Amino acid sequence: MCGIVGYVGHSDGRVNAGHNALDVVLEGLRRLEYRGYDSAGIAVVADGTISSRKKSGKLNNLISELEARPLPESLTGIGHTRWATHGGPTDQNAHPHLADGGKLALIHNGIIENFAELKQELLAKGVTFQSETDTEVAAALLGDIYRNQLGGDAAKGGLTRAMQLACQRLEGAFTLLAVHADQPDVVVAARRNSPLVVGLGEGENFLGSDVSGFIDYTRRAVELGQDQIVTITADAVDITDFYGAPAQGKEYEVNWDPASAEKGGFPSFMEKEIHDQPDAVLQTLLGRSDIHGKLTLDELRIDPQLLKTVDKIIVLACGTSAYAGQVAKYAIENWCRIPTEVELSHEFRYRDPIVDENTLIVSISQSGETMDTLMAVRYAKEQGAKTVSICNTNGSTIPRESDAVLYTHAGPEIAVASTKAFLAQITAAYLLGLYLAQLRGNKFQGEIKDILADLGKIPAKIQRILDNEAQIKELGQSMADAKSVLFLGRHVGFPVAMEGALKLKELAYIHAEGFAAGELKHGPIALIEEGQPVFVVVPSPRGRDSLHAKVVSNIQEVRARGAKTIVIAEEGDEAVKAYAEHVFYIPETPTLLAPLLATVPLQIFALALASAKGYDVDQPRNLAKSVTVE
Ligand code: M6R
Repeated sequence: MCGIVGYVGHSDGRVNAGHNALDVVLEGLRRLEYRGYDSAGIAVVADGTISSRKKSGKLNNLISELEARPLPESLTGIGHTRWATHGGPTDQNAHPHLADGGKLALIHNGIIENFAELKQELLAKGVTFQSETDTEVAAALLGDIYRNQLGGDAAKGGLTRAMQLACQRLEGAFTLLAVHADQPDVVVAARRNSPLVVGLGEGENFLGSDVSGFIDYTRRAVELGQDQIVTITADAVDITDFYGAPAQGKEYEVNWDPASAEKGGFPSFMEKEIHDQPDAVLQTLLGRSDIHGKLTLDELRIDPQLLKTVDKIIVLACGTSAYAGQVAKYAIENWCRIPTEVELSHEFRYRDPIVDENTLIVSISQSGETMDTLMAVRYAKEQGAKTVSICNTNGSTIPRESDAVLYTHAGPEIAVASTKAFLAQITAAYLLGLYLAQLRGNKFQGEIKDILADLGKIPAKIQRILDNEAQIKELGQSMADAKSVLFLGRHVGFPVAMEGALKLKELAYIHAEGFAAGELKHGPIALIEEGQPVFVVVPSPRGRDSLHAKVVSNIQEVRARGAKTIVIAEEGDEAVKAYAEHVFYIPETPTLLAPLLATVPLQIFALALASAKGYDVDQPRNLAKSVTVE
């Protein structure tokens, strides 16, 4: 999703002042690359004019353009990485977009929903457009207000007032940053439904989609509220609402180290993040229970009495986070006996769901900015539901708007494909389930303590899988020519199978599907032909009922039709060997907790196969890390 950076510095030689805007903005854009993008651009104000450059493709294309056509030194600049929505990823559609005869430049993250109507209005006034974007319409509107309504008069509020008036007309989701040649030491920004953070420097100030945009310069940040406008100069940060009334942001100290966002010696962020998983699970478990094994989820601000009245849970999430939700459903229903549904956020509010004050909404989002999930949570709140957010990004929108939050502590996840956040989400969902069971008396304290003890052993078990990754890596590399891979699982193995398939689709761009193993005979088995690779997530033979035996039968069904079976099984399960071309063993663990282990080999497999194909595993094509449009 689009990344945004803004900068204003001093020219009088004060502390920290005088950075060249181009350097600051480019560095910020580099740090925001993880958000995913398909073009980039930058504008600076110097010598009474706006100078801008923009290019489709990765930042290196923009840098080559800047080498060929350098920008002047400047103390004020804005920069953007674009993830295409309206109009393809072309040079023309890249941001910034210019208006007011080239004196104003604007960048934007989000979608202006009423852009078509505004465009007609502006066309009728004789405005011409160079791109297909909604952003250029916003730029033209801002330019028109600045020039024709305010007469370009600083005494009438200048760019800040123009931004307020423009925002009153815009519908949808947007973060906007604008600079104007008439006000060379100012960046004005607006925020509705899309993220924006201010970075406070000394003799300089910053703007970013998130703190990564300026983390190299300052740790002091101000989180903007909904529908706010901020005007930054080198010395001041002024916040108002869309109508000009003074407003306040929330200042905080950024407590993560920029080094933690680096690759730590691995060839990719994704590989590093897979290896971060023992710690991600550990950190998520830490400090959540007392020495007697009693869960103390202090951050859950919902009145425990209210949680006791919950008669239904709906988990809302998208993509990998939704698979974490599927795992949560098995655990929560088993431990708490509360009916639990899992729904893709974007499907939820359009089907008139049955939600009331006894419904607990559990949203799961790594970024905390996924627009589909945010909108679904807002809808549920309007219906009176209580909302808990499981989230990895401190201070992001979804937890801020929820009644309560359970942060995962996986650390920043940079690779677009989610790995450590997934395991941390599942861990947090288990904690929530156990907490509800404790509160409602569904489980004895001793039982909860035992499950927490089993969870406590998980990080070391993940580490054991990682220590033996060579075998699965080798298999991934050897299958670089595969055209299609299927994944089967039952019970909690089903969401694991779907996650395994999603990782392969995302990273290696090959057909992959995850199925409930029992569903195979109802149709998908027709896909099986000689040599078809099929991964099977086999439950523990020590587990419940005849689950293990049923899955072994499913393996036999596909093998009989020529499938090449690759099995993830529990250590000691010698029986499966007879039915598999390859077996990868994971340490013993209770069935409900097994997804925290069984997922890991599938992540490594997808990473190895995609790397063997020469693909960029950190930034797969067409994908964005944080999907902030519906
Ligand atoms: O930030 P979120 O967890 O809300 O993101 C949800 C999905 O967009 C995300 O999990 C996506 O499916 C990833 N690409 C998975 O690797």
